[in-house]
Order: sequence, then structure tokens, then C-alpha cells
Amino acid sequence: MKMYPNVLLTTLLFFISHAGLFAAEITLKVTKRYLNLPVSQQAERGTMQFTVNKTTERTFKIRLATDKPEYWVFCDLSALKGKTITLQYSGDAAGLRQIYQDDKITGQDSLYREKNRPQFHFTSRRGWINDPNGLVFYEGEYHLFYQHNPYEREWENMHWGHAVSKDLVHWQELPIALYPDQLGTMFSGSAIIDYQNTAGFNKGNTPAMVALYTADNPDKEVQCVAYSLDKGRTWMKYAKNPVIDTKAKWNSKDTRDPRVFWYQPGKHWVMALNERDGHSIYTSPNLKDWQYQSHITGFWECPDLFELPVDGDKNKTKWVMLGASNTYMLGSFDGKTFTPESGKHYFSTGSIYAAQTYANIPVPDGRRIQVGWGRIPQPNMPFNNQMLLPTELTLRTTKDGVRLFSVPVKETGQIFKKMQSWQNLSAPEASQKLQEFNNRDGLRLKTTFKLSHATSAGLNLFGQKLVDYDMNSNLVNGVFYSPEDMTSMEITADIYIDRTSVEVFIDNGAYSYSFARNPDAKNQEGFLIQGNNIEVKNLEVYSAESIWK
Ligand code: FRU
Repeated sequence: MKMYPNVLLTTLLFFISHAGLFAAEITLKVTKRYLNLPVSQQAERGTMQFTVNKTTERTFKIRLATDKPEYWVFCDLSALKGKTITLQYSGDAAGLRQIYQDDKITGQDSLYREKNRPQFHFTSRRGWINDPNGLVFYEGEYHLFYQHNPYEREWENMHWGHAVSKDLVHWQELPIALYPDQLGTMFSGSAIIDYQNTAGFNKGNTPAMVALYTADNPDKEVQCVAYSLDKGRTWMKYAKNPVIDTKAKWNSKDTRDPRVFWYQPGKHWVMALNERDGHSIYTSPNLKDWQYQSHITGFWECPDLFELPVDGDKNKTKWVMLGASNTYMLGSFDGKTFTPESGKHYFSTGSIYAAQTYANIPVPDGRRIQVGWGRIPQPNMPFNNQMLLPTELTLRTTKDGVRLFSVPVKETGQIFKKMQSWQNLSAPEASQKLQEFNNRDGLRLKTTFKLSHATSAGLNLFGQKLVDYDMNSNLVNGVFYSPEDMTSMEITADIYIDRTSVEVFIDNGAYSYSFARNPDAKNQEGFLIQGNNIEVKNLEVYSAESIWK
């Protein structure tokens, strides 16, 4: 057995606890910042419980490795320094013996340089992530909270993880914001800044950052409140949680993902909440007492609701209601009821799910910035999934009516440096020019194809179709897309290639999609432009700088 001298193992014994659940336990004095825990996906999930002074400090499920760990996860024990904790585990004790304390996490030295670590998309150091939560800008920081399992690369034990950025590009992961509690695990939700102290949580001149989230337990899902007075670093849960409990009303467990914002005309808070078959609207004067107002069917999970100018005209606005698939309706909203006038429509497909937009973007900026969860597997990594690039959403008039457009926020431009650009190439010429970039680590390509026959045009990378435009059927990578001017015979693509994912923005964001990289190992071609006598009108190649430097 490998020995870790810095671990103070005072007890290691097998025993049957009073509940009969825990087969093994160790006791240790916390002397370092992190507890490193070995994980193997082959091991069964067991229940781990930490006890401090006879009080349960946390309980979670983990696949403790009994022999060689596949990877390591960690707990930040800063808050427990000097205390004695007992770790009890329902599974094999061999796993417990490998747990050790250190001021570094296992693998710290190769952090963000792992083989399949995305270089310009946010990922957590360890564990699983899904939905972005509580997106709020406050005092120069963009907060990114997210659904997080710190203990495994698969979904379980939902916490709110936390990261911040000053520019929406470079992220710093912070300690976990919300831990599971007696009401359940921490499902998705949103955050706002309560400048007017409507909830009474503010302290002096410091307004509370208030999060509304779902607590999920085997019986039901309820809506809860937590607040922070230190820029989201530490959180207090509201003593009278839950604030909404509607399982009986809907005869359904599915009531979750509160999205809250201030409705200025009515001077009250609005919550869009997914309940069973669609999104409900609730209102509140104080973020604690909520009144049901209305419901619109046809949406599943993670509501978002906001007002946007049409073609930049502040006097002409529409409200956008979205669900987790990022499909949306356009309509009007009076503070209590959303009335749809068109939809559902789509503007982005593929790996994106459960996207949310930022709250509290300062007025002179006023952008509607969306971050989506990229359901991108990260093969053989101690972490999984990623966030997609933050995008700016706008409403524009098209031949089909008003539609959402989405392009990466301008801040992303700083990491992409133009290396080459060409005009008016044939497909074979363009493929040839791209050869030197076949194996480049991180790349952005901008291109415009002009078709000469109403057939197809595309770009492959090692056999995988990054862009596949079928003009006859109006399909882009299998999804219906009809350019604004069909007769132009042109299509543009802005393509972001990271280590494990690709994001593509067609025609300035009229349509976008994302997917996992899946090169054909036998394919030798690298970049290949395809099409029946197409012209590559423009081709620009940009290097991509890692955001983790
Ligand atoms: C969407 C979702 C939410 C839920 C969360 C749980 O991906 O299912 O509805 O709150 O994930 O992790």
C-alpha cells in the first residue's frame, strides 16, 4: 500500500454502524487544504459521510477506487482546518485507506494541460458539470455558477459550482457555492442583485446577491432562496425555505429551475419556473412570498424570459421565452402573463442545453449574453462536459419574421489571432492551404462558400463534417436552414475548433450548432473542402490562445 505520511489516520476499522450503512470509517485531523479521494468508474457507488463533533457535515455518493484509482477528486476542507473529522463509507474500506490530505489537489501540476482539456471553453478542475446557473454580473465580475458533481465525472450529488471572470473569456474556479442540504440536492436556478433590499438580506451598503434554486429530493422538488454578501463567495440559506412547493398542485415532481428578474413597470420580481408541461410565471415583492400568475405549456426545463429590442430599436421590443432545448417563442409580457405571437423557433442546436442569460449587465452595455451547457464528453478525463462560448443574443427582422441571432461575445476576439487569409480559391486550393493547420491545437476558421450548382458545399476535418450544407434540401449538418437570400448561393461559417468540441456560427449567427470532435482515426485527409465546383470566396485562419495561461 502506498503510504501518505501527512495523513493522520487515527482509526481504521471495519464496523457495522447503528444504521448498518457504513462498513468502514477513518478519523483524521484536518491539517491541509484538500482531501484527495481516489475514484474508479468500475467501483460501485457508495455513500460517504463526514462527521465533525458528532454532527453530519456532508453526505455524498462516490465510487471510491479499491485498488488503482482511475482519477482523483477533491474536497476543499479549508473551513474545517484543525478539526477532527470522521469519514464513514458504505463500500469497501480499501478506498478509504487511499484518501490523503495535501495543500494541492492530485494532478495540480498538470491542471488545464491534460490531453483532452478544452483550451478556450470553461470546464471544472474535477467532476461533472451541466447547466449554467445564477449567471449575474456584479462589481466587475461575471459569475458562472453551474450544476456540479465534484466527486465523479458523471451526474450525481448536485452542487452549485462557481467560477468568475472579468472578461467572459478567462475563468477562475472558486470553492463550491451551494451544498446539498436536508431539503435536497442543489438543482438549477438563477441569481440577481437585490439593490433595493426587498428581501431584507442586505447589510449596510452591501446589496445581497440572491439565488433562487430548486432543492431536489426523492419525493419532490421545491424552490428555495440563498444569499451572499461577499460577491458569491459564501452563501446563507434562507431559514424559511422552501418558498414554493407545488408538487400537489401539478400532481408532478417536475417543478424546477427558477429564473428570476425585476420587472420595472410593475415594480415586482418575476419568476419563470418550469412546472410539468411548461413555464409558469410567479410574482413577488420580496423574493420570499411568491404568487402564481400564469402558465404556458410546451416547454421543458430551464426557462429564460427577457425583452430585447428588434433591430436595435429600443422603442420596438419583443419578449423571448426559451426552454432548455433553446427553442423559443416571441411575444409580449405584462409582468404576469407571457402572450406568444410566434414560435417555436430555433437558432442553435447540437450540444447546447439549459442555456441561461446574464442578469444585471450594466445599462450602457445592456447586452443579452447567453451561456449554454455543451454536452461534450471529455474522454478519459477527471472532468466532463463544458460551457459553450458566451454569445450575444439579438433580435433581427428576417424574411421569415423577427428571429434570434447569436454570435460569440466580442471579448472572445482577444484569444484568436489572424494567421492567414485568402480570397477566391477553388475547393482543392483551399483544402491545400489548410493542410498545415490539420493538427493545430485550437483554431478558428472563417469562410464564405459560393456555390455554382444548387447542390452542396462543406468542410471536413479528418472525415468529420464540420460544415455540411445541402442547398437542395436546405440542410446544414442535417438541420433545416434557409439563408436570408437564397439566390446569393452563398453561406458563411465561423468555426471554433477546440480539443474536444466544434462550434459553428452560420451567416452571422442566424443559426449555430456545436458538437463533439470525432475524427476518423483512419482518415488521412485533414481539412477537406467539398462541393460541386464551389468557390471559397473567403478563408481566414486564426490561432487560438489557451484561456488557462
Ligand atoms: C437540466 C436539468 C434541470 C435540473 C438540472 C439537474 O439539464 O435537468 O432541469 O435542475 O438539470 O442537474
